[in-house]
Amino acid sequence: MLKVLTIDGPSGSGKGTVAKILSQKLGWELLDSGALYRLVAFGALKHGIELDDVDKLAELALTLDVEFKLEEGNELLVPVFEGENVASQIRTEKCGDAASKVAALTPVRDALLDRQRAFATEQGLIADGRDMGTVVFPSAPVKVYLSASAEERAERRYNQLKASGESVSIAAILDEIKARDDRDMNRSVAPLKPANDAIEIDSTHLSIDEVVSQISDALSE
Ligand code: CDP
Repeated sequence: MLKVLTIDGPSGSGKGTVAKILSQKLGWELLDSGALYRLVAFGALKHGIELDDVDKLAELALTLDVEFKLEEGNELLVPVFEGENVASQIRTEKCGDAASKVAALTPVRDALLDRQRAFATEQGLIADGRDMGTVVFPSAPVKVYLSASAEERAERRYNQLKASGESVSIAAILDEIKARDDRDMNRSVAPLKPANDAIEIDSTHLSIDEVVSQISDALSE
């Protein structure tokens, strides 16, 4: 059976952190699919490709020159795009916003499908994203949909950005999160929603450890 755990959910629900912890705990590969959309957006901004130029964006997505490498002193994989470590550059709000725009384009999503599926190995895979359980790995045996209130997610994002030195107001982040939710949930292609067989976890009042332990329990059932 395919050893894939999918974790989908909206921006700031804690998926990324939970997925990283589980991948280290289980020794399974990690697919951060959002990073791929962020890389397409980053590449478009870098090369001056308009965010509505579907053909050029799909071509960029298909030929994305990226390697995920283990860096010395960093136990996690970093994206090396066109020879440059862009780990922090793709994490900005600007890039996240552009990512959600390019992610609404069917040809871009199609162009990234094979690349995402290639992450699945016998060793096991944790796939983090918006459509991991619904589109990319529909036959994954365990699927999780992780959510949290928009206010809680805005606060988490604010603390993250503050720690990395970006200064943004919490009200602006909440607006951005709501706009991003709206785009992710209401787009016509691969809208964000729980798979029919997903376990739904609301993390508004849960710690990361509590979420990790609920998912670990589901995996061992
Ligand atoms: O970190 P955050 O949750 O804000 O975003 P992300 O997971 O890095 O993904 C950035 C954007 O890519 C999201 O807002 C989605 O629009 C899009 N995305 C997607 O459409 N499908 C995925 N599987 C992953 C991300």
